Amino acid sequence: MTDKYAVIGNPVAHSKSPLIHAEFARQTGQDISYIAVLAPPDGFRAAVLAFRDAGGRGINVTLPFKHEAWNLATAHRGYAFNAGAVNTFEFRGSEIIGHNTDGIGLVRDIKENLGCSIQGRRVLLMGAGGASYGVMEPLLREQPGEIAVANRTVDKAVTLVAYFEKFQTFALRGVTARPYAGLRGAQFDVLINATSAGLSGEMPPLPGDIFAPDALAYDMVYGRTTPFLEFARAQGARAADGIGMLVEQAAEAFFIWRSVRPQTASLIAMLRKA
Ligand code: ATR
Repeated sequence: MTDKYAVIGNPVAHSKSPLIHAEFARQTGQDISYIAVLAPPDGFRAAVLAFRDAGGRGINVTLPFKHEAWNLATAHRGYAFNAGAVNTFEFRGSEIIGHNTDGIGLVRDIKENLGCSIQGRRVLLMGAGGASYGVMEPLLREQPGEIAVANRTVDKAVTLVAYFEKFQTFALRGVTARPYAGLRGAQFDVLINATSAGLSGEMPPLPGDIFAPDALAYDMVYGRTTPFLEFARAQGARAADGIGMLVEQAAEAFFIWRSVRPQTASLIAMLRKA
């Protein structure tokens, strides 16, 4: 019998997840179906339970429900617990197991697909919303030399850093919260835009000399060239959008569900071309 999966969000019609999982299933010979489900803002829990009760095996969660998904999970695995956000449910009996594969997807894209090491490097993480919480622990586990968390509302960056300071299971070395104005004179090797600025054609106010030689500028937004990536290219930095992260987080979810790891490179290339 075909195993059923879905992505739930609002909006969700634009989601590339059904296409990505269909390609993974074709490639690995897995018998699954994968659909997009639109949940009303106050109807996330009902949509998840209805899908599960109709025989669904797992769900991907997208905006704006990742935090609510954390609360709905009956158990948390991997990076989900500390991230406070869940993007993948795995249904096992009465358990709703919550995972977060976003950070793994980001780190794998940066390291393996883009060939850029994080260990010992100076990392700038822009933004202090859900996207930043989701990737902090996997980034820290790469043991960067430094992570500066910059945010327009600096208090939120301070809160984020204080939140991760509570955990004793990984070292919080060289992590600072900064206003953008406090970045003058600093240089970074890996600059990650986890803000939603690119969606409205804006970018965080960065000084021009912030890119170290050979720096990688990464924007989690995908499918468009954001002002941040244009700025980075103009300064001589290498620029990457979030399409690789999208495919890699999906591959990790597919692995959790099916115990088979799909190939990602050709799909990333295809989506980038499209
Ligand atoms: P998400 O869960 O996707 O991270 P969010 O919680 O709404 O979404 O957070 C959006 C992030 O983008 C925030 O860090 C926000 O900065 P503020 O906390 O100061 O609002 C950041 N952001 C949005 N537009 C921005 C812009 N034009 N310039 C800089 N930062 C921006």
